[in-house]
Amino acid sequence: MAATGKPSIICRSRELVDRGRGIRFTVRRRGETTPAFVVRFDGAAHAYVNRCAHRSLELDWIEGDFFDAFGEHLLCATHGARYAPASGACVGGPCGGAGLVKLAVREENGDVLLEPGDDIHLIDPEAVT
Ligand code: FES
Repeated sequence: MAATGKPSIICRSRELVDRGRGIRFTVRRRGETTPAFVVRFDGAAHAYVNRCAHRSLELDWIEGDFFDAFGEHLLCATHGARYAPASGACVGGPCGGAGLVKLAVREENGDVLLEPGDDIHLIDPEAVT
């Protein structure tokens, strides 16, 4: 089934520092209100549902603090599951090989945009015309 709707602005591109703090946002996904986040890694923006594959908890205890101390992996603060920032794949800890749910984003005109999908949209989106 084809994607519907328009992309929505999550934040300004300049707000995302490479391997720095992420920005949290909320999506409606499969009929549920779901926390999500976007980070920048090696120059590109990557967004995920903020739900650890281990226990379905949000990754960040400190809001926006998703990277480990080395800026190499996304880290779940609860039990230390680690994920590859560019793919969301489990790379260590109790995620047991299960990854994060990736969301489609792109950057355009200085904005980070969430691509619309059949089952997902930004809550209170600023639709791009
Ligand atoms: S809830 Fe994330 S590692 Fe356990």
